[in-house]
Amino acid sequence: MTLPIVAYGHPVLRNVASPITPGQIDLERFIEDMWETMYASNGVGLAAPQVNQPIRVFTVDTLQLFESMEESEQKNYPDKPGLKAVFINAKILELSGEPWPYSEGCLSIPKIHESVSRPSTVRLQYMNEKFEPFEQVFTGITARVILHEYDHIEGKLFIDHISPLKRKLLKGKLTDITKGKVAVDYKMKFHL
Ligand code: NI
Repeated sequence: MTLPIVAYGHPVLRNVASPITPGQIDLERFIEDMWETMYASNGVGLAAPQVNQPIRVFTVDTLQLFESMEESEQKNYPDKPGLKAVFINAKILELSGEPWPYSEGCLSIPKIHESVSRPSTVRLQYMNEKFEPFEQVFTGITARVILHEYDHIEGKLFIDHISPLKRKLLKGKLTDITKGKVAVDYKMKFHL
């Protein structure tokens, strides 16, 4: 089932999401809905708060990102061919590497793209959909998407990383999104 994506301005996007325990929700069903929602809106990542669930769950698929990239561009990223995974109760253990800029967007903040600088490497502790624990190092585009989604479960958004001046320039557009004055081809939920 495709779920509506919560738009900028909704308080759920500013909550620090809670860890989940096995059996707390129908996780299998929820994750199926997350994938369906993410692909229906052409996203490469989706976090549970974006579908109005204040829990520490996010999905990432950078495989599709690499598939749509030219061979020459793929070479710029060490994480080729990407990754598809579900991250439960993720916790950043260490950030390292030279920060690099990349133009980011967000399904909750449609039609806005801004360059965001993030560290290149993240060591992450998390569980998969079977609650099996992992500790893994991610780099490249995959680290980028993971850090963007991780922000969501911490109540942060990519626009928090841009300069106050740039944010000021976006104010009108952000207010429009809050009010539902934005045209998107996927289902959204506005906080009016
Ligand atoms: Ni986002």
